[in-house]
Amino acid sequence: MQSQLDDAGGLRHLVTLEGLARDLLTAILDRAESYRRLPGQPAYEGRELAGVTVANLFFEPSTRTRASFDLAARRLGAQVVNLDMHSSSRAKGETMLDTIYTLEAMNADVFVIRDSEAGLPEYLIDHVAPHVSVISAGEAHLSHPTQGLLDVMTIRSHKRPFAGLKVAIVGDIRHSRVARSTARALATLGTTDLRVVAPESLLPAEGEFRGAQRFTRIEDGIAGADVVMMLRIQKERMAESAALDDAAYFRSYGLTAARLRLAAPDALVMHPGPMNRGVEISSDVADGPNSVIREQVNNGVAVRMAVLAAITATLTRHRRPL
Ligand code: CP
Repeated sequence: MQSQLDDAGGLRHLVTLEGLARDLLTAILDRAESYRRLPGQPAYEGRELAGVTVANLFFEPSTRTRASFDLAARRLGAQVVNLDMHSSSRAKGETMLDTIYTLEAMNADVFVIRDSEAGLPEYLIDHVAPHVSVISAGEAHLSHPTQGLLDVMTIRSHKRPFAGLKVAIVGDIRHSRVARSTARALATLGTTDLRVVAPESLLPAEGEFRGAQRFTRIEDGIAGADVVMMLRIQKERMAESAALDDAAYFRSYGLTAARLRLAAPDALVMHPGPMNRGVEISSDVADGPNSVIREQVNNGVAVRMAVLAAITATLTRHRRPL
C-alpha cells in the first residue's frame, strides 16, 4: 500500500491507524474538539470542504458512521453523494474499481468506504487518481480508524494522561475492527494497561494485541479499570453463530451494575454501537451515570469533520488547476 501521508507529511488517505504518529493523532483530536458541538447547540458550519465532493460507499450496514460522515462533510461545505448499497450497479456485477472510476468521472474527490472485504481500501488507494483520497469507514474485522479516533477523543475529554489508564475491552474482540483500531490509538497515545476480556473463542489470536493482558472472566478483566468498553457479538462474521446463546452470554459476560462496581468508581462505560441490550450490556448501565456512549456518537461527527478537513488540506496540493 502507498503511504497514507504525502511527501509533505499531510494526511492523504486514512485506512488504518497503524504507523500514524502520536503528533498527527493529537492534531486530529485537537481539531475535532474545535468542531464539537453538544446536542442542542448550533452545529458548526464551515467552508473547509467547499468545492469538494465526498462519496459515501457503504456496502455493509451502518447508522452512526454513515450518518456522521454525511453530516461532517455537509457541515464543512462539501457536496455529498450517498450510494445505496442495494441499488448500486455493483449488484449488477460492476467491479468496485469501475464504481470508483465512474464516480471519479463525476469529480468525486474523497471516497468513504465500508466493506466486509479485507484489503479493499488499500487496493483502492493504489488505483485512485492522484487528487483523490480514500477513507475507510470499516474494513472487515481489521480496521475502523475513525472509530478508534472518536473513542480516544471521548476518553481524553474525561481522563488524562493516557499513560497509567487501565482500559478493558470486553466482548467479541476476535471479530472486532473497533477493538483493533481503538487499541492501536490507545497504544500510540501511551496506554500500556490494556485488557482483552472474552470467552476463549472470542479472544484475538495469540500475537495480536501485543502487550494486552488476556482474561476469560469479566470480573477479573474489569477489576479497577478506568475504562470499560463493551462490544457486540459480530455474528455476521462467524461461520457458526447459532451455538451462541444470548442469555447465557449475558449471564457470563454482560456488563451489569453489580459487575461495574468492580471497576474504578468513575470508570467510563463505552460501546461503539450498535448495542444489543441484555446481551453484552444491561440497559441501566448503558443509560447510567458512567456511560459515555452517546458522547462517543457526538464525538464521531467532530472526528470525521477533522479527518475530512485534514485530508482536504492535503488534497488541495494535489488537485488540478482550473
Ligand atoms: N460504530 C459503528 O461503526 O456503528 P455503525 O455500524 O452504526 O456505523
